[in-house]
Amino acid sequence: MHTYDYAIVGTGIAGLYTALLAQRRGSVLILTKGSIDDCNTKYAQGGIAAAIGEGDSPDLHFWDTVAAGAGLSNRDTVRLLVSEAADRIAELIELGVPFDTVNGEVALAKEAAHTMPRILHAGGDATGEHIEVTLGHRVRQSRIEVLEHCLATEILVEDGVVRGVEALDCRTGSKEQFGCKRLVLATGGAGRLFKYTTNSEVATGDGVALAFQAGAEIMDMEFFQFHPTAIRLPGVHPFLISEAVRGEGGLLRNVEGHRFMPDYSAENEMAPRDVVTRSILYEMQKTRSDRVFLDITHLAPRVITTRFPHIYRFCMDHGLDITRGLIPVAPAAHYMMGGVKTNSWGEASIKGLFAVGETACTGLHGANRLASNSLLEVLVFGKRVVEKEIDKTGEDGPGVGELGYYYLPDRGASGMPLVGCTALQSLMWESVGIIRSGDALDKAANTVSAWEKCLEKPSDRSSYELDNLVLTGRLVAEAALIREESRGAHFRTDYPEPSPDWVRHIVLRRN
Ligand code: SIN
Repeated sequence: MHTYDYAIVGTGIAGLYTALLAQRRGSVLILTKGSIDDCNTKYAQGGIAAAIGEGDSPDLHFWDTVAAGAGLSNRDTVRLLVSEAADRIAELIELGVPFDTVNGEVALAKEAAHTMPRILHAGGDATGEHIEVTLGHRVRQSRIEVLEHCLATEILVEDGVVRGVEALDCRTGSKEQFGCKRLVLATGGAGRLFKYTTNSEVATGDGVALAFQAGAEIMDMEFFQFHPTAIRLPGVHPFLISEAVRGEGGLLRNVEGHRFMPDYSAENEMAPRDVVTRSILYEMQKTRSDRVFLDITHLAPRVITTRFPHIYRFCMDHGLDITRGLIPVAPAAHYMMGGVKTNSWGEASIKGLFAVGETACTGLHGANRLASNSLLEVLVFGKRVVEKEIDKTGEDGPGVGELGYYYLPDRGASGMPLVGCTALQSLMWESVGIIRSGDALDKAANTVSAWEKCLEKPSDRSSYELDNLVLTGRLVAEAALIREESRGAHFRTDYPEPSPDWVRHIVLRRN
């Protein structure tokens, strides 16, 4: 078995960026279950936050991030993020990412819950695509070995140390093992757990499931962010309508035309993401409708077409001219705040195992991620993964609050075969979604546990993905059941307020 210095799983910004830095230090293998450009990154419309504008400062960015995290963000991690932002952005520009400019200066936009305009975009709402194309091109030009259609199926651990990874060749069905000194999980999130999601089909919780099965600690899984505005049209994927649209002045109206956000928050449409999401849901319930509308008809058409070319084109392709008519929207699952618990070097609880980006839980986002911090997180912590001297012990812990360790309970139920991914997605949406309750979570955890017991041995990409989703779904449901309060993105009707007893993190481990 050939041993690489780094094996990296995933080819979104986290995998590609980490690989580009890692190749300066050793041999690098990238594994990806699809082709190199199958990832979630390319759908990222929001940009990258960095406090580089006049009057802004890392300190202001720090406090906005901490406020969004609702008492659970690791402040040391946040400090690292905000203070390294400018340097990491400069490196991305050097790699060739064409950020938008105004009068020769990088253009900065404002988004909800940011006190200053500090969001960089590329190609308006095509930031993710520009990053993915630029980094993908660099990787193709490099010595990095990329194995496409190769799904990681098991982390190989010996004497408590990662020795390699086993992978399935999705085209031939054969398995192969690859040795590595460091294994970096960069597989993105698990948005596909839910009936409505802005995520692409690759977001099946692979990294979290692999790490959990190998015995690594998984943290904060109850915190799943639901984006307020994804397009809601019958038979159409819930395409993201960026928060930047509200940042430009977009108004939310219910199906009766009433602008409802002032009824819920003094910050109106610019309230934190979880507040806007729940307000939309209440309006949908009140008006017995499956959607509300985003109204930007008061903006100049040129602003719309130049600031949001992707959104404009997507809507046009679906018969909606958004310069004249309203955009039908509803919330959709968007971002997994929890993940493989890491320290600030991206190091997981098993030696040699690392996680970056949405797969990781560095404690940065706490109970709720501040918009446009996720791409930045990858840059800051991807670099640290590569720089970590492996034999030195990294610092531990989430920084704010204690760690509570839990094992998955044996729920005993069995004999209820899972009919397919759609059943899981519907259950998760209905019972483990935006508004939760103890009863519904308990039933959902029992059902997912019963399904888990009936899964057949996986043999191909889709059966592995289903297994990963079921396991990840169970982790989300169990953590949400344990946390008896509401905080950030986690809202329970039976515990509608935050509790001082719950300023702590739920860490799940395999029994
Ligand atoms: C958006 O553009 O609304 C999404 C940005 C993000 O999730 O950070």
